[in-house]
Parts: sequence; structure tokens; C-alpha cells
Amino acid sequence: MRKISVDKVREGMLLAKTIFSLDGNILLNAGIKMKESYINKFRELGIFEIYIDDNISSDIVIEDVISDETRFEARMAVKKAMDSMVHSNSMDVKPVRNVVGKIVEELLTVQDAVINLQDIKTLDSYTFAHSANVCVLSTITGISMGYDALKLKELALGALLHDIGKTKVPNEILNKPGQLTPEEYEVIKKHTKYGYEILKQSGDISAYTSYIALTHHEKFNGEGYPLGLKGKEIHEFSRIVSIADVYDAMTSDRVYRKKINISEAVEYLISLGNYQFDYDIVRKMIEHISIYPLGTYVSLSTGEIAIVVDTNKKYPNRPVIRLVRDANGGFYESFKEIDLTSYNNIVITDVLDDI
Ligand SMILES: [Fe+2]
Repeated sequence: MRKISVDKVREGMLLAKTIFSLDGNILLNAGIKMKESYINKFRELGIFEIYIDDNISSDIVIEDVISDETRFEARMAVKKAMDSMVHSNSMDVKPVRNVVGKIVEELLTVQDAVINLQDIKTLDSYTFAHSANVCVLSTITGISMGYDALKLKELALGALLHDIGKTKVPNEILNKPGQLTPEEYEVIKKHTKYGYEILKQSGDISAYTSYIALTHHEKFNGEGYPLGLKGKEIHEFSRIVSIADVYDAMTSDRVYRKKINISEAVEYLISLGNYQFDYDIVRKMIEHISIYPLGTYVSLSTGEIAIVVDTNKKYPNRPVIRLVRDANGGFYESFKEIDLTSYNNIVITDVLDDI
């Protein structure tokens, strides 16, 4: 399977991964043939990309690091917590804690989790899907930093609810399509303090978990908000979540801007290591992100085009690829696979949307 932007989807293509609604109901089953009406529906729902199967990619299996059920439960837990904050100014932490337990448990069973699959976000699921992603990525990083299950659950709970304070920010500012005025930006910034208050009052949540809501926008060089903390004054949990938060936002399509490639996002994190972020944690996190995810089309220094079929964990820049097109643009009759760790003279020059 491979990911394809909805603009490139054509009638007759085969859907490779089931598409779910926000609450986990099936919208379209894997295996179904694309029709114009489905493509229009994707646009309506704000779905920018889907996974398809074709003769070049059908044997490439891309698996998520947690189960679909747990991912939907996580999204719904955040949604319910946010809804009940808006409507009754209170929330039940229990369901959130339950799903956090499942996420930690599932991730602890994966050896060296590497994220290859990007979940499909719809317009209405963005905030909740983003929160779930930040939680998964933070937890994977915590695991590779040697955290035990107890500490992981504290980290994961705060990561899942890091933006809960946004429920106290007026919607017209939160969803303003244009540029924010300085005054409006000051109001947005308050979601950190609001989030901290909410978690502190929710009972049974550790101080460090609550600090995540308060300090996930602090920057390593002291230029963040709300407190302007610097370096290790920022609790380690928040240093982890701040990186996951920025990374997931950068690699997600939004209505007002296109996402950037994973390889570019990773480069961005590295270049801002020790300025905006804790470089040691950036290094830990990116070990678990596939720079060229399975099923990605890449162009090569030879002029050929290839699709990524396997990753080399030790050398993330050098995946195993299947040559698809020659330097003149013609398709190869049979697809040869090469491991780029054995071909030092060939480099990946670009990531392609489609060919
Ligand atoms: Fe935030």
C-alpha cells in the first residue's frame, strides 16, 4: 500500500486502509474501488490523503504502532473530556486514564517502534487525532528514554490532554481563519495556564502531568511561553511533548497550509535542537520516525524514481527501495529492489507526492 493525496486519486483505484469517522464508525472499507462520489466525499470531510493498493505497492504492508481501536478510543476520550469541559466545566479523567493505560501497554510490547503510518485525519477529528498522535509519539520517546510504565502513564496522560485549556479560549479566536492580532495571540497563549488549572483541579493527576499543559510551549532557549523557562528548568515531560506537538502539526495538512515532508520536518527538529528543543530528546524521538515511510515515492540522484519498501533502522537515510521508473521516465518492466546501504553512490534527492 502507499499513501496518495486525494487530488491524485482516480476512479477505480483500490482503497488499502479502511477510513473511519471520528467516533470509529466505518466510512469506507478497505478493498473498495474508488468512485468520483467517494473522492468528493473525502474533500467534504477534509481528508487530504488516503492509502491505496496498486501493482507497485500492494505487497508493502504498513502497520500502525497501536491498534485502530485504541487510537479511536484515545480520540474519543479527548473529545469527551473537551466537550464536558465546555458544557459542564468538569471532566471525568477515568476514561482518559483507561485509554492511556492501553496506549502504554501496547507500545511497551512493540520492539523499537518505528512510525511508518500516518493516521488519516478528517477536518472534525483534527484536534483529537493530533492529541492522540502527540501522546503516542511522546510515549514512544519516553520508552526509549528508559521510563517505567508508571512514569509513561503520567507522561501519556499529560500528552493526550496537553491542549485541554483550549476549551477556555473563545472559539472565534481559536478558529480564526486569518492572522491573529497581538491581543488575540495573548488570549491563545492562556490555554496553557487554563489547562494547568483544569488538570490540577481534576484530582488524582500528578503535578508533573499538569505541568505538561502549562509548559508545552516553553522553548529550550527561554523564548517560549507562559513562563519563559529555560533548558532543564522545563520539566522533561514538557520537553518531550513540545517536540511531538510541533512535529505532528508540521506533518499534518491543514485547510490553510500544506504539511511538509517527514524528512524536512525531522531536519527542522534537528536544526532547532538546543535552541527551541532539547537536542538529546529530539535525537531519541527521531530514531522512531521513519524519515522515508514505507510506500513513499522518492527520486534518486541517478534520475530514477523508486518506492520505499523497507527501512534500515540504523541508517534511516538509506532505505530499501524498488526501482519503478528509469531516468527517461519510462516504467521498468520488472521492479528491481536495492538496499541503499550497499549503494553509496546513489542518494535520495526528493520525496514525491505521486508519479
Ligand atoms: Fe498548545
